[in-house]
Amino acid sequence: MKIGIDKIGFYTPHLYVDMNKLAVSRNVEPEKFTIGIGQEKMAIPPLTQDAVSLAANAALKILDDDDKEKIDFVIFGTESGIDHSKSAAVYVHQLLGLKPQARAIELKQACYGATAGIQMAKGHIALHPGSKVLVLGSDIARYGLNTSGEATQGAGAVALLISADPKIMVLEEHNAYMTADIMDFWRPIYADKAFVDGKFSNEQYIAFFNNVWRQYKEKTGLELQDYEAICYHLPYTKMGKKALRTILDEGTVVDQERIMANYQISTAYNRVVGNIYTGSLYLSLLSLLEQKENLEAGSRIGLYSYGSGAVGEFFSGILQPNYRKHLQIDQHTKLFSERTEVTVPEYEAIFEETLPTNDRKVELEIDQDPATICFAGITDNKRQYINKSAK
Ligand code: HMG
Repeated sequence: MKIGIDKIGFYTPHLYVDMNKLAVSRNVEPEKFTIGIGQEKMAIPPLTQDAVSLAANAALKILDDDDKEKIDFVIFGTESGIDHSKSAAVYVHQLLGLKPQARAIELKQACYGATAGIQMAKGHIALHPGSKVLVLGSDIARYGLNTSGEATQGAGAVALLISADPKIMVLEEHNAYMTADIMDFWRPIYADKAFVDGKFSNEQYIAFFNNVWRQYKEKTGLELQDYEAICYHLPYTKMGKKALRTILDEGTVVDQERIMANYQISTAYNRVVGNIYTGSLYLSLLSLLEQKENLEAGSRIGLYSYGSGAVGEFFSGILQPNYRKHLQIDQHTKLFSERTEVTVPEYEAIFEETLPTNDRKVELEIDQDPATICFAGITDNKRQYINKSAK
């Protein structure tokens, strides 16, 4: 049975900061951020967007009535959870009006959560071929003002509809994965910003890639020449390139040029959004599919997922006939073109805004946020979400 990605939705908040301006205000040469790190713009989430609303906005535009009837499992990968107990998936299930006869859960393993969700979805559909699974990867990356990780923040969500006979990409049979208990990046329960050992995290990302790449080659016999492109989890766009360079000499010059050119295209959206943790790899895939017009059906795309702590996985997919017709290119172009730039002081003020941790009622100004679905406040310790289109 063919199982894979039937639809892909994406959402990022309407605000961003320019990395050149952030560099100037941090007394850093702008090229460090734009070339050395490889980021041009960084998405800034207002208080009215959290992991739940970002994910619900990402999924809102891709689901039709038939999908809603068939979705019987919502899997939400995130490391920006809003509740220790109730899953973010239950909120999204309600906001999207999905049928009650469905499972809804949250998965956590840093940036790897959505990949785990996809693999779980694959198993579910193998058992229940008529059903569809909604997999969400939604996060807000926060390291703190004036930290070395600051330039690698971001916010956004990707929604993937996984089904049998998918319209966009069939996931191939094999996977290669590994786990090792390391402290490269983590966020204790009491912290609202990540702790990170930056250089170590870079090294581990590459070491895990080399391990799972080698395992995948042994399992499948596939070589670099068999891939049209390889997409990476992109905490910043230079990171994937560093990993890719370690295997490039396995191919001919033609292979190297093709894979590197496609890598550049696969970073387009990540470059202007920043790290979105769980959704990052799939945002890279979306960049490639939407920004490269002549990518042929039948092409094999490699996918490298990495979640600090750490778990890494390599797998691959084959593009399906007419896959481009099922992408939301116009909608995503509009989303990017309608964003508003904020100044560095404005970004800093938004970054420092927090919600009370007592039972005080909170009402947020959702009129300032153009998103259809917003986090509107807290009443009786319960988070309130508004779907403006359902008013
Ligand atoms: P840093 O230490 O400030 O930067 O922060 P640096 O000094 O290493 O410089 C970065 C690059 O800019 C270097 O290039 C410099 O040479 C270059 P490289 O040697 O790496 O190729 N550079 C310049 N280039 C052009 N013109 C200039 C210039 N100046 C310098 N004038 C660091 C970098 C990534 C460590 C930091 O931002 C950080 O800690 N980020 C967060 C951690 C991270 O993203 N790690 C990535 C791997 S772990 C991962 O992917 C998982 C994650 O997504 C979390 C999860 O799983 O949940 C993070």
